[in-house]
Amino acid sequence: MLSDLDFVVSVEQDARNLVFITPWERTQHEGAIRFPDSRHFIVEAGDQWEPIGFVILQGCRNPNRSVELKRIVLQTPGRGLGRACVRMLKQLAFRDLAAHRFWLDVKSLNARALRLYASEGFVEEGRLRESVRVGTGETAGWESLVVMSLLDREYQARADAGLETAFSGYGA
Ligand SMILES: CC(C)(COP(=O)(O)OP(=O)(O)OC[C@H]1O[C@@H](n2cnc3c(N)ncnc32)[C@H](O)[C@@H]1OP(=O)(O)O)[C@@H](O)C(=O)NCCC(=O)NCCS
Repeated sequence: MLSDLDFVVSVEQDARNLVFITPWERTQHEGAIRFPDSRHFIVEAGDQWEPIGFVILQGCRNPNRSVELKRIVLQTPGRGLGRACVRMLKQLAFRDLAAHRFWLDVKSLNARALRLYASEGFVEEGRLRESVRVGTGETAGWESLVVMSLLDREYQARADAGLETAFSGYGA
């Protein structure tokens, strides 16, 4: 909801997260909440279901049934909540949105996210070489994006193998 955006922007602007993402203007978040092609979620966890992060999906009405995990940012990394979240998002994409392809891009230096996506079945499609400008002034440089995807039949094979059971996270 629009009333969640102070929280969303504060998590997104956290220096620990900024290095891994390209932050949006608040108006872009407002657009994603309103635009039917997008889904903008708050992630809640713990006994009191406190907000601990957010997720944005795009392409939810894409005629090619290619749904994008546009952004996932969690405040408390390393508790298994990212895995729990990605698993729920796959179910949402393939079961509820009837996706054929669920895809994302991730900065090549984001080892944690790369490892998480690969271990959740996402396959590397290729790299957008030096496609993101990073740093400023004399320290500015380029970073590459890794494009990864999971197809519906690959998801089904994982589900049949028991690899898609609900995962609650270690500290959830
Ligand atoms: C990426 C993110 C969503 C992952 O969520 P998380 O809750 O931290 O991830 P999990 O605790 O579920 O751990 C996922 C895997 O990453 C591994 N991992 C943790 N830190 C790591 C590191 N520094 N290098 C490599 N792998 C790492 C974990 O060991 C785990 O794998 P395992 O279960 O095989 O051990 C979260 O860290 C985050 O929001 N980061 C900042 C924003 C960001 O990078 N978003 C993604 C942009 S594409």
